[in-house]
Amino acid sequence: MEQKRILVTSALPYANGAIHFGHLAGAYLPADMYVRYQRLRGRDVLYICGSDEHGVSILISSKNEGVTPKEIIDRYHEMNKSAFERVGISFDNYSRTSLPVHHETAQEWFADFRERDLLTRSSEKQLYDPEARMFLPDRFVVGTCPHCGYERAYGDQCENCSKYYDQTELIHPRSLLSDADPIVKEAQHWHFPLGDFQEKLEEYVASHEKDWKDNVLQQVRSWLKAKLSDRPISRDLTWGVQVPGEEEGKVLYVWFEAVLGYISSTKEWAAREGTPDRWKEYWCSEDTKYVAFIGKDNIVFHCLMFPAMLMAHGGYVLPDNVPANEFLNLEGKKFSKSQNWSIELKEFLDEYPADPLRYTLAMNMPETRDSDFYWKDFQARNNNELADILGNFVNRTAHFTGKHFDGAVPESGVLDETDEAFLAEFAKTAEMVSANYERYRFRDAVVSTMNLARAANKYFNDREPWKTVKSDPAVCATTLNCSLQAIYALSVFIEPVLPFTAEKLRHFLALPDDAPLRWDGPAEYRLPAGHKLGEKVLLFDKIDDKTVEAETAKLGAMAAGDEEEERTYPPLKPEITIEDFMRLDLRTGTIREAEKVPKSNKLIRIIVDIGSEQRQIVAGIAKQYKPEDLVGKTIVIVANLKPAKLFGLESQGMLLAGSTEDTGPVILTPLSDLPDGAQVK
Ligand code: 2FM
Ligand code: ZN
Repeated sequence: MEQKRILVTSALPYANGAIHFGHLAGAYLPADMYVRYQRLRGRDVLYICGSDEHGVSILISSKNEGVTPKEIIDRYHEMNKSAFERVGISFDNYSRTSLPVHHETAQEWFADFRERDLLTRSSEKQLYDPEARMFLPDRFVVGTCPHCGYERAYGDQCENCSKYYDQTELIHPRSLLSDADPIVKEAQHWHFPLGDFQEKLEEYVASHEKDWKDNVLQQVRSWLKAKLSDRPISRDLTWGVQVPGEEEGKVLYVWFEAVLGYISSTKEWAAREGTPDRWKEYWCSEDTKYVAFIGKDNIVFHCLMFPAMLMAHGGYVLPDNVPANEFLNLEGKKFSKSQNWSIELKEFLDEYPADPLRYTLAMNMPETRDSDFYWKDFQARNNNELADILGNFVNRTAHFTGKHFDGAVPESGVLDETDEAFLAEFAKTAEMVSANYERYRFRDAVVSTMNLARAANKYFNDREPWKTVKSDPAVCATTLNCSLQAIYALSVFIEPVLPFTAEKLRHFLALPDDAPLRWDGPAEYRLPAGHKLGEKVLLFDKIDDKTVEAETAKLGAMAAGDEEEERTYPPLKPEITIEDFMRLDLRTGTIREAEKVPKSNKLIRIIVDIGSEQRQIVAGIAKQYKPEDLVGKTIVIVANLKPAKLFGLESQGMLLAGSTEDTGPVILTPLSDLPDGAQVK
């Protein structure tokens, strides 16, 4: 059954940074192409998005930049909204989760669940920063990983060994807010019973086995196999959507409310249109086909958590498809804001037009696996495909019509087989491209579209109008008539991927009022003979080697320069007294034994002789030192530190090492000989 309406959403990007190509290729360009295609099919389609303005990532940016969270979201919301517009992403609404309509919606959903006793409340142990007087979100605490001993592990996951754990399991945790030693405190939290939806979600996913993408199904199945468990949906933070009826400082978990942002954005759209209830036509009707475009890191929330919430609420449509893309990399490396390895959309659009970028990203879309953006490839796609094929065909046709037919559509004579076959390509292209869009195969859709431009170029070459203009003017007129019909066909078919170029083509064709701007137009409609064309337009400027070299060099230089500038210094700790310092017992000692800790790639176990006794110390230095190079060296240890267990081994002290992110730990040794057990002060 064909649904009456199509609702399309793209993941709400966090308003804490500028959108880059990776984001665009993941969740926005494919959605926009899909939406533009559906509009051309004449379908009722609504495209919804907005900024995700809560969550810890916003707080981290605000702390890093030394401004309020509000300043961060205002700045990046405007920046991203405008970049999306300039690159032609045609949202029907681009909202913000900081708006009252969103807060109210999220609070209503929470209150509804709570009133129906769906939610449970239980207390959890969490790290609390006594100086900053707040519970610490996972990304605001670092410590030693309980699995591998990595010393800068975050509260939820270790970047070194990738293991997940509870923040209270971190060894020697430290607050990134104040550098204080956090304490473990109980906190009450609300939980959503995701586990209760296991069966329903299994049925839901099974019903889409044939139409969902493999990468999506694989991830979802592995979550389902591991069995779903209840999820906390509140957080102790001051930034976010307040949990209704609770004291300040309790907010809804960002993922719980962000997905509801799709609904509140639709409400905002409906109110602006003067039909405040119309959002329900899309969300609360079985006639809607809902497609949620995302990147692969958002799969679990859109395929399990959000559907479970929609099921729990009742009366809402579930996603019919969640076409998640993999990641796009840049010149072989992951996009990274912190390492300055990125091309921001805004900066790019100040230099280059949007369509060649859209085309290049579509041709390299990470549909089934990660892919890359290369400047060289961008140049080649622009020069050899867009300019040399599409641009060249349009240019030659326009030039020839201007010169020999006074800029009007020539009368077609009798069509021979070649002409007929060429015109028949329009309907075939419509069908093939359409099948690809309907199946979310964007690259194939664009390849099939460009094949029509290729066929058109070949047709023009084979018909040799520059010869027939003298030898057989009627044939020449037919050739140009068919070529102009092809430009009209292209103006329709390229629209989803090259909307700005399509607009230029329509301008050149000066389309008559009855010319349908619809997907089936090219198969049915012909520009009438005698129709006066508009001004010739230049479609694509070529990009030269120097430009590409400069851009690639700029990328490398920015990343390198950044390494210099990016060196940040941890804030100095609060002043202590000499008495505080004297509480530390620092001693020199000689390393007698050293060996790698089995199954750990970071830890070394050493035996240190501090004169009065021998100590076993487990240290995360295996990446920097070989055990055999350590034996015999004099080092300094903290001799009165409470022992801790690492990999089942007791560490009876800590060796002193200086470290930065680049160097890792560098062990400190005395400048000249000192006997074991000497006090260091
Ligand atoms: O990963 C992200 O960038 C999230 N801001 C996506 C949220 S999608 C939806 F839940 F709003
Ligand atoms: Zn680890």
